[in-house]
Amino acid sequence: MTDLAAAFHTADIDAQTSAALAAHGLTVARVDDTSRAENDAWLDAVSRGFLDGERNEAQRAAFFERTEARRKLGVYDTTAPLAQTPVATFASWAAELTLPGGAVPACAISSVTVAPTHRRRGILRAVMAGELRTAVDRGMPVAVLTVSESTIYGRFGFAPAAAAAQWELNVRRARWIGPVAPGRIDFVTREQGRDAAAALHERVRLASPGEIDMPTGHWDRFFGTRADAEKAEQLRVVQYRGEDGEVDGIALYRVTENHDDFTASTVDISFLLAATDEAYAGLWRFFLEMDLIGTIRASELAVDEPLWWMIADQRAATITIRDHQYVRILDVPAALAARTYDVADSVVFEVADPLEIAGGTFLLSTDATGAASVDLVDDPPIGLPVVRLGVAELSSMLLGGVSAVTLARAGRIETDDPARIARLFATPAAPRLSFWY
Ligand SMILES: CC(C)(COP(=O)(O)OP(=O)(O)OC[C@H]1O[C@@H](n2cnc3c(N)ncnc32)[C@H](O)[C@@H]1OP(=O)(O)O)[C@@H](O)C(=O)NCCC(=O)NCCS
Repeated sequence: MTDLAAAFHTADIDAQTSAALAAHGLTVARVDDTSRAENDAWLDAVSRGFLDGERNEAQRAAFFERTEARRKLGVYDTTAPLAQTPVATFASWAAELTLPGGAVPACAISSVTVAPTHRRRGILRAVMAGELRTAVDRGMPVAVLTVSESTIYGRFGFAPAAAAAQWELNVRRARWIGPVAPGRIDFVTREQGRDAAAALHERVRLASPGEIDMPTGHWDRFFGTRADAEKAEQLRVVQYRGEDGEVDGIALYRVTENHDDFTASTVDISFLLAATDEAYAGLWRFFLEMDLIGTIRASELAVDEPLWWMIADQRAATITIRDHQYVRILDVPAALAARTYDVADSVVFEVADPLEIAGGTFLLSTDATGAASVDLVDDPPIGLPVVRLGVAELSSMLLGGVSAVTLARAGRIETDDPARIARLFATPAAPRLSFWY
């Protein structure tokens, strides 16, 4: 664990949060990482919150092992019959979010639940606000999460900042017209695939705005290499090796046979990771040219996949776009200065924050090297463009996932020259997050 991660992990619970919950007769505490019993009760609450069943012994043991690094908060109602089971859960940890041209420490949030017996009395609001204050106090300029429902987190200053594309491809129509990669494809075991994927993701994530480092235990979950894995035997793994013998690509998939038509089975690709364009072409071509396959499905892809330009018939692809990676700026100067810009310019931002964490008036100045300086200002210089916006809208622009022109036309930001702001924040490729957390 880095110093920052360790300091955040053990930070005291925000006093305002404790007071707000105490007013409802509730207590909030950090789950003891070494207590199996506390972790089991907390996991049961998470499972119940996400409408899932009780966890079995294998699942509890696996959870205990892999989530030690998470800061887990539980809210307890000592008057409830099951007083040891929290009525609300909230997990977070120090991650790293890739930005255009850089990266920034990020508070990643997950396992957010409030029991249906205790909903809508402000528990989430109290915990979220406090944990965000703690995160910024401990040096994390942004927070990130993926969501069950799009409508929950905007009020806390989060915005969808990297969308995900879900593909369903009619293989008969698509026809591969992309390059023929010079390397080779081979099957590997799930364990080999997991290890190669972990190494590859570390290679590619820092060049891919929107990605975060993979949380502990996720690779084992994807590749079915955890003790509590289900249906792992259905997973297949192929790797792509370049001409130099290096593993540059990994794909994890599952085939569902079509018993009515054996030539029209379905491939579900759960992960396709390519560190080079050759690996990307090699792996996608492998799937498009597989025998007996009628449909390929893949999700959490970028919204501007090169694959769309590698098939003869673009209408063979049905693509659904969804909000995916949510970002919340907690410290405007630190967050904006952590990325690079392709245009030298100076702009004033008047940022409103519903939780009063990151608001203010800021001067962003970028230079020809792409670097930025960002200052909180009382009297911004006159003559510069001014953008009035909420912290959620600024967060949605941080990765380059939406143009300021689009936001201005949608009435989400106010500025006289949205095109100038759009040029400043523009990036060559759409941001992407390749998994859920
Ligand atoms: C989502 C959930 C955590 C909300 O907890 P809660 O304690 O009831 O929320 P609060 O009472 O603090 O509500 C805070 C605000 O969010 C709003 N809100 C809460 N849940 C919402 C939802 N599901 N959709 C839209 N708005 C929601 C409330 O109306 C309230 O709005 P306001 O303060 O602006 O008036 C809870 O309903 C839950 O556990 N849901 C099932 C699991 C889940 O979806 N978790 C989220 C995973 S990403």
